[in-house]
Amino acid sequence: AANMPLLGKRVVVTAGGTREPLDPVRYLGNRSSGKQGVALARAAAAAGAEVELVAAHMDVAPPEGVKTTRVETALQLRSAAIDAAERADVVIMAAAVADFRPAETAETKIKKRDDAADPVITLVRNPDILQELVRLRSDSGQGPALIVGFAAETGDSRGDVLEYARQKLRRKGCDLLVLNQVGRDLVFGQDSTTVSILRQAGGEPRTFSGTKDEAAGMIITAVADELA
Ligand code: C5P
Repeated sequence: AANMPLLGKRVVVTAGGTREPLDPVRYLGNRSSGKQGVALARAAAAAGAEVELVAAHMDVAPPEGVKTTRVETALQLRSAAIDAAERADVVIMAAAVADFRPAETAETKIKKRDDAADPVITLVRNPDILQELVRLRSDSGQGPALIVGFAAETGDSRGDVLEYARQKLRRKGCDLLVLNQVGRDLVFGQDSTTVSILRQAGGEPRTFSGTKDEAAGMIITAVADELA
């Protein structure tokens, strides 16, 4: 049906922000609210898809009736996403995955001590899950028909930001890239957003401003168009 363009498709959405533990009570996190990812999961379900949500920390509840796997860290999100991708037609990587994690996690709470130097946190790189999903697909010749990445970019102009997104699309090798222009009070936790959708296949990006629900609808339409 025209209004159920993803009927019979399996869609995995990752959402929210990972938290990388420093000790049992502290973590490195980010400002992702999970709103866009949850809106995407809901829009994909409304389009007829069977949806699986892999949710890191979110300020919002996962949608009713959507199979949800909760994760905390980038490494946990990686396992869950790779596992879910094996049975998916579409993977949408909307999660804000930490690029780095503390090299060590203290087993007990880090104390301040007058007789010791202030602690220094050493970070190590997390794997790039999106790139890994793309590589797994090309190495095995099987996997999701469509892999969608996100780019949250800051920049002085829309032109700069679009150029960063084009570079990211090339580097990551995903089929679609959704660009969000972000700032401290822009997008994160907000209900409205401006997104552009760039295709690996080329052409002019489609740009849209509206609520995150409306943006999700437009992204799901682009996904369905790309699958067709
Ligand atoms: O490189 P950057 O973090 O801007 O890329 C954003 C995109 O890559 C998002 O789709 C995000 O979910 C994904 N990502 C990832 N693994 C990382 C970092 C980002 O899959 N370690």
